Amino acid sequence: TARKLIIAIDGPAAAGKGTLARRLAQALDLPYLDTGLLYRAVGRRMLDAGLDPENHPADDQARRITLADLERDDLRVPEIDRAASLVAAQQKVRAILVDTQRDFALAGGGVLDGRDIGTVIFPDAPVKLFITASPAARARRRWEQLAADPAAPDREAQIARVAAELQARDTADAGRAVAPLRAAEDAVHIDTDHMTAGEVLAEALRIVRERTGCPGSDCPGSD
Ligand code: CDP
Ligand code: CDP
Repeated sequence: TARKLIIAIDGPAAAGKGTLARRLAQALDLPYLDTGLLYRAVGRRMLDAGLDPENHPADDQARRITLADLERDDLRVPEIDRAASLVAAQQKVRAILVDTQRDFALAGGGVLDGRDIGTVIFPDAPVKLFITASPAARARRRWEQLAADPAAPDREAQIARVAAELQARDTADAGRAVAPLRAAEDAVHIDTDHMTAGEVLAEALRIVRERTGCPGSDCPGSD
C-alpha cells in the first residue's frame, strides 16, 4: 500500500471533490480529510455562540476545533455553507487550521480535499487534482444531494436558488485575499460534467499511477 502518499484535491463547490477524495482514499488505503468540515465547524461554533461570522473574528473558535468537531451532523446545512465561507476568508482562522491539516497527513499520508490544498497546505504534493463541473451540473448535483423532491413543481426554481448560492460562495472563495480558490500550476484538471463518479475515480487512479507508481511495487514506501 501507499504510505505517506499525499493527494491534494481542490475545486469549486459541489464539483465532486469529496466523492472522489473518499473513493480514492479507500482505493489507495489512505486516510481521508474533508478540510471543508474544519471551516464548517468554525462557522457552526460562531453561530452557536451568537456571533456573526461576517463581522466577528473567529480565531478563538478556530483554536478550539478538534477532529471530534468534524463528526457533528449539523455541518452540512445551508446556513453553515455561508458561515464557513465567511470564516474561511479570515487570515487568522486559516493560519490556525494549517497545522491540523498538515499533521493529519504527515504520519501516514492522506487524501485531502478543499480549496487551497495544492496551493498552500501541501504545495509539494506529488498528485494534485483540480475538479470542476459546469455551474448547471453542480447546482443539479447539490440539489439532488439535499434529498430534494424530483416531482416538486418548483423544481427548476429550487435548482436556480442552489446555483445562486454556489456562485456566490465560489465568487467569495476565489476573490478573497488569503488562500483564494485556484488551481495549482501543476494540478491536473478533471472536468466531471459528463462523467459518472466511477469514471472520475478511474481517471484519478490513472493519474496517480502515472505520477507515483501507486498502487504497485514502484510506489514510494510500498511494502
Ligand atoms: O462541499 P462544498 O464544496 O459545498 O463546501 P466545503 O468543501 O465543505 O467548504 C465550505 C467552505 O469552506 C468553502 O466555501 C470555503 O469557503 C471553505 N474552505 C476553504 O476556504 N478552504 C478549504 N480548504 C476548504 C473549504
Ligand atoms: O465535495 P464537493 O462539494 O466538491 O462535491 P460532492 O459533495 O463530492 O459531490 C456532489 C454530488 O455530485 C454528489 O452527490 C456526487 O454523488 C455527485 N457526483 C459526483 O460527485 N461526481 C460525478 N461525476 C457525478 C455526480
